[in-house]
Amino acid sequence: MNQIKEKHSQQARLTPHPVLKKYYPDVSCRRQRVDEMFDASARYYDRINTMMSFGSGRLYRAWALKRHGLGANMQLLDVGCGTGVLALIAQQKTGANGNVIALDPSIGMLRQARSNGVVNIINGLCEAMPFPAQQFDMLTIGYALRHLDDLNAAFVECHRVLDHGGKLLLLELSKPKNKLGSYFLRIYMLIIIPMVTRVLSRSRHAQLLMRYTWDTIDNCVDPEIILAVLQQAGFESAKHGVFFGIFSEYTAIKT
Ligand SMILES: C[S@@+](CC[C@H](N)C(=O)[O-])C[C@H]1O[C@@H](n2cnc3c(N)ncnc32)[C@H](O)[C@@H]1O
Repeated sequence: MNQIKEKHSQQARLTPHPVLKKYYPDVSCRRQRVDEMFDASARYYDRINTMMSFGSGRLYRAWALKRHGLGANMQLLDVGCGTGVLALIAQQKTGANGNVIALDPSIGMLRQARSNGVVNIINGLCEAMPFPAQQFDMLTIGYALRHLDDLNAAFVECHRVLDHGGKLLLLELSKPKNKLGSYFLRIYMLIIIPMVTRVLSRSRHAQLLMRYTWDTIDNCVDPEIILAVLQQAGFESAKHGVFFGIFSEYTAIKT
């Protein structure tokens, strides 16, 4: 295992998508820009999220957690927790003897998570987590993979903090395979959602974040690469599935 980690510490950084020059000029500015966008849009995030998913976002996350075995007394880490949509469901499911920790680099999102009722929040990055090894039974990353700085480092960290037998569950949005579906999703996410967001929030930051969201989906690395990086990080049984054409799910186990 140490050999895998050593090999990884020498591996090149793998961003989930190329530099998006519309939003930042080069990779050295990416972290700051992403944090700024989430900080500035945090207060609108829940409303936009509900509108964008026609109110189904919470139900979908709850369904995914149930299917993947989250139950009472478990220790769960939610990485890229945002406003805590997923962490709040997990708090209910793990109960009084379980524990949920929610991690995010955006202070704005964490403030919102706290006011939404998330109990344990930590400011930090997936690529360098402030937790001892083998602390969690389950680790979730909900719609945050596209915003990570380095998939190699992030998955090595996920593997380190999970206990043996622990599960990584990654929820993502991905482009439909067929051209027509992909075309409609593009129109919906690049034009309709940002327009409605601007009207509802009156925030150009929130509007920009929505455009950025589509551009990260459009340019995200292929599932095969994500599965390969999970395996290289030491995970076993890495799998990818798609629901309703656009909801991607990746799972992997630390043995
Ligand atoms: C689209 S939000 C998802 C929020 C939430 N998980 C959900 O299900 O709605 C993505 C979150 O990932 C966070 N994020 C960005 N880069 C990150 C990193 N390197 N490590 C951990 N979280 C990150 C952002 O600050 C943002 O709050």
